[in-house]
Amino acid sequence: MERSFVMLKPGVLQRRLVGVIIDRFERSCLKIVAIKLMRISRELAEKHYAEHKGKDFYPPLIDYITSAPVIAMVLQGANSIKVIRKITGATNPLDALPGTIRGDYALTTQKNIIHASDSLESAAREISLFFKKEEIIDYELPNAKWVK
Ligand code: PPS
Repeated sequence: MERSFVMLKPGVLQRRLVGVIIDRFERSCLKIVAIKLMRISRELAEKHYAEHKGKDFYPPLIDYITSAPVIAMVLQGANSIKVIRKITGATNPLDALPGTIRGDYALTTQKNIIHASDSLESAAREISLFFKKEEIIDYELPNAKWVK
């Protein structure tokens, strides 16, 4: 089973969109195996976005992500990384289709409200940055046989 790291960026809690966004993942049969409300330190933000250091958008990105609490999650399911990126939509909300999270709830890349891992390697790296092993809890869902 594949795991992905998903972060609901600061705008989600501030705009009271936590429920509607998590609902989309649950309806897609993805399983929440870790979740926490947290205020990201600059140090953690810089590690998470290390590959973008030096780009124009890096300072505003770090400022935004550390400006208010976020929800960090690990979601599990078959092909979860690709499925979640589809549900999330394109990075720039101008390119994100209606029906995707960014297409429906965001207007600018700077405030595109959600982050999702883009590969198995980045998922493993990001999950280990945000969660200890014991904070990830796998369990059986009663409808699992209807999903895969
Ligand atoms: S790149 O250069 O193609 O690798 O960058 P990209 O994948 O488009 O974006 C990487 C992350 O930076 C965020 N981003 C921004 N944040 C704030 N302001 C601006 N202008 C901006 N441009 C890009 C973008 O949302 C990506 O963050 P995540 O959290 O991965 O969505």
